[in-house]
Amino acid sequence: MKPVKVGICGLGTVGGGTFNVLKRNAEEIARRAGRGIEVAQIAARRPNPKCETGATPITADIFDVANNPDIDVVIELIGGYTLAHELVLKAIENGKHVVTANKALIAVHGNEIFAKAREKGVIVAFEAAVAGGIPVIKAIREGLAANRINWLAGIINGTGNFILTEMREKGRAFADVLKEAQALGYAEADPTFDVEGIDAAHKLTILASIAFGIPLQFDKAYTEGISKLTSADVNYAEALGYRIKHLGVARRTEAGIELRVHPTLIPADRLIANVNGVMNAVMVNGDAAGSTLFYGAGAGMEPTASSVVADLVDVVRALTTDPENRVPHLAFQPDALSDHPILPIGECESAYYLRIQAKDHPGVLAQVASILSERGINIESIMQKEVEEHDGLVPMILVTHRVVESRIDDAIAALEGLADVVGKVVRIRVEQLV
Ligand code: HSE
Repeated sequence: MKPVKVGICGLGTVGGGTFNVLKRNAEEIARRAGRGIEVAQIAARRPNPKCETGATPITADIFDVANNPDIDVVIELIGGYTLAHELVLKAIENGKHVVTANKALIAVHGNEIFAKAREKGVIVAFEAAVAGGIPVIKAIREGLAANRINWLAGIINGTGNFILTEMREKGRAFADVLKEAQALGYAEADPTFDVEGIDAAHKLTILASIAFGIPLQFDKAYTEGISKLTSADVNYAEALGYRIKHLGVARRTEAGIELRVHPTLIPADRLIANVNGVMNAVMVNGDAAGSTLFYGAGAGMEPTASSVVADLVDVVRALTTDPENRVPHLAFQPDALSDHPILPIGECESAYYLRIQAKDHPGVLAQVASILSERGINIESIMQKEVEEHDGLVPMILVTHRVVESRIDDAIAALEGLADVVGKVVRIRVEQLV
């Protein structure tokens, strides 16, 4: 059988990795796919020194690939929302299957792209968009298809996890570690996407849709980054038996779906609390399987290429199957998506770590306790440290039981209004993940 011809758009970290893996493992991949895969064209503005493209034709214009009649599958690895969106729509319009690693594109334009792909009977595959080399989309969409998914929680930004790990283990400065993550090819073109949680929210949006059978709704995700975390909170969390991780959490409740990305205290003995460096991990809790944990490299040249090529193999295998019977993009049949709402953050429920800086006066602790108890907030643990020399204030650290967020907002406002409380109360959500 003739090989399937693919065009790679973008020869950066992931594009270069994809070309290299396809070349190195060509024989084994063909044995798996049932046909050879030939890279018939590459679109790149500049060569990638880590990638020996030999005689493969190269164009500077990505639309040459989308319009190339010889190409069966377009691999979109240019990133970003705008050009990638146009490219993918053009490829679909031309009847080509698409493989993409672009989480921003899928999270923001996925509903439109999938509708167009269904119209044209082509596949759009995006395993590499979430958690790099971990086949978590396939695991949820296919491996856990028997389950009603209750919740999922993941460390889904490698750069952020790398920064938190280096800060905690080596006391390195935030900016310094970020620079290293950029040099290693982990960080987004705009690294605020990593540190402010936007990249994780893109990925969480995709995971939630696949887990719960809802349309993609990135605009409703609550997003909080790691840039304001202090080493004081990292250390107090440790003293209380927790680790701080930047987590994406999606949980199904009666009222709606929680969709939130924020720093989170996790008990230090949980496996996921010990996922360090650029590694990612996603816990998925289903009613039949219970809790499952998927772990691996969340970014980088070949781990991400591993998922791109796996998608390509799926496309090649599916070329012979009935288009109506392919695995649906969002796991559930398109006409069976649910309209269960995404909850605003104020209606989400979590436990909370609170750090209060108070003047060293009698009765402050009692006032704090009464503000919390008046709002039905139950304290799980409390730690009061000695007066700090530099400011004469006493750090008070509390961990609460689970409570709806709006009640904590109200309590924080009241706490910040106390005459003896100085500055803002630090609030970090806590998840037990059991
Ligand atoms: N910037 C992303 C990360 C790349 O650090 O996880 C992989 O999506």
